[in-house]
Amino acid sequence: MNILITVQEVREKVQEWKRAGLRVGLVPTMGYLHEGHASLIKEACSQNDRVIVSDFVNPIQFGPGEDLDAYPRDIEHDRKTAQDAGADCIFHPDVDEMYGSDFSSFVDMTGITENLCGKRRPGHFRGVCTVVSKLFNIVTPDMAYFGEKDAQQLAVIRQMVQDLNFAVQIIGCPIIREPDGLAKSSRNAYLNMEERQAATVLHAALSGAEDAMRAGERQISVLTGMIRNTIESRPLARVDYIEVVDSKSMQPVSEMNADVLIAIAVYVGKIRLIDNFTWKIQAGRI
Ligand code: PAJ
Repeated sequence: MNILITVQEVREKVQEWKRAGLRVGLVPTMGYLHEGHASLIKEACSQNDRVIVSDFVNPIQFGPGEDLDAYPRDIEHDRKTAQDAGADCIFHPDVDEMYGSDFSSFVDMTGITENLCGKRRPGHFRGVCTVVSKLFNIVTPDMAYFGEKDAQQLAVIRQMVQDLNFAVQIIGCPIIREPDGLAKSSRNAYLNMEERQAATVLHAALSGAEDAMRAGERQISVLTGMIRNTIESRPLARVDYIEVVDSKSMQPVSEMNADVLIAIAVYVGKIRLIDNFTWKIQAGRI
């Protein structure tokens, strides 16, 4: 399978496809692909004639002291994983191809990016929105695929597409988990054995809250208290945030009268992991 390095190569490939009347799907990633990414690629393949996976560790979405240099990379593994999942090519630019020395334009948002991860990681969503806008302009996909694992990111991208009139349909894909419930993540590779064991607490805490909601519990302080107690019962785990927000606006809610996202970020040792579930008022849950 082809690995395209330059913007020009991608444009030529996509033009060729579009001239043939083919529908193009994009799966943006930062590489080190796992089954979560593969599920997005498979979904894209089922709905498009051609699928491009972008594989780019985007420096501008990492804050100072975050793991940019340590972020795991393995392009040969990615090539195989993307190919096995059915992708047609990978776009794997270097940093200079995406950000020339005179780069000076950014896509920024208000409101929806100011809570949850946006609050803890200032500038993170500015970096995400900027790179995703560039990818949309480079690839001009008909459809683009994002995981519900990063629920705020998905909501932010949907809002950005609406606000800036990108002609792309955004598809959200369900969270893929390890057999013990831990959401798959490139960052799981950093966990040592003890931390990996402790990391199961994220899903355990959310499942406990979900069970309580199914049993009728609706008080937000009770639910967040339960989640906190479960997490704090593990010595290696430390709560970064536990939030209950409106699933579209990402603003905190005081009552459960609309669809809500229950989202957590937890440090396990030094590694920050996130997880969430959405509670739909109509259906009970997704
Ligand atoms: P990355 O962390 O590589 O994730 C790429 C896509 O895979 C995201 O849409 C993410 O939500 C999805 N994903 C990751 N783990 C998943 C899982 N366990 N189940 C389902 N989907 C999962 O998110 C980014 O990269 C970057 O911010 C990016 C959008 C590429 C911009 O740089």
